Amino acid sequence: MKNQIKKAYDELAGHYHKLRKEESNVKFYKEILETPFLLKLTGNVKNKKVLDLGCGPGVHAKFLAKRGAKVTGIDNSKESIILARKESPKSKFFVDDVEKLPFKSNEFDIVFSAMVLGHFKNWNKILNQVNRVLKKNGIFVFSTYNPFKEILTKIKWRGKEFRVIEDYFDERLIYADWKNEKKSFKVSHHHKTYGTIIKLLINHGFELLDYEDCKPPKSAKQKYPKKYEETINVPNFCVWKLRKK
Ligand SMILES: C[S@@+](CC[C@H](N)C(=O)[O-])C[C@H]1O[C@@H](n2cnc3c(N)ncnc32)[C@H](O)[C@@H]1O
Repeated sequence: MKNQIKKAYDELAGHYHKLRKEESNVKFYKEILETPFLLKLTGNVKNKKVLDLGCGPGVHAKFLAKRGAKVTGIDNSKESIILARKESPKSKFFVDDVEKLPFKSNEFDIVFSAMVLGHFKNWNKILNQVNRVLKKNGIFVFSTYNPFKEILTKIKWRGKEFRVIEDYFDERLIYADWKNEKKSFKVSHHHKTYGTIIKLLINHGFELLDYEDCKPPKSAKQKYPKKYEETINVPNFCVWKLRKK
């Protein structure tokens, strides 16, 4: 599974990086719906040592560096790291596995991670690593798909579209088809309930400081009317802010 995800990101890195800069659904999801909440919960990063865990093509690393953070990014997709080095030249980047971080203990003030944990069925290794590399009272901010959104599917009946609620407690794999101009890839993530996520975080020594369901701002309605309507009633993403105790 890990290799399948790595292969997909290596092949799709350039395509998705391009899409998030154009007027596209990807741009709406990342730049309107998710990133502003991630940055809001991360707060002041000036002169802070920040680890961008699963940094992808370095877009968040660039935002954080512009706000004065000393950013280190890590991702196991070599192609993504090539893009990240161009995107945020002052940051340091490593091609490596987020489950085996090549950093000393108590090294970072903040660990930031956008849409990475959801790829893992078992969060124990990552949460142990995040806890290890964070300083005491260090901050961990991460985003995932919203567990509420994960259990909704759409069906059409008699020409009308309906939302169907599936089994919330079935912590299953969910597959999505991701495409570039040439190929399509099945990329998986794991549905977890809010209860499971909260218990995992508490059991790994974190205190919950804040949480966002990523509701789009009214200002997005004019530019992205369709996406705004789709997400104003249903939370697509969520952002969690924790402190290492
Ligand atoms: C949805 S992308 C998010 C990228 C970036 N954080 C962003 O928001 O643009 C998930 C990222 O996690 C990385 N990833 C997945 N599994 C990983 C692993 N085991 N070790 C390191 N990176 C991993 C992927 O290569 C990909 O770049």
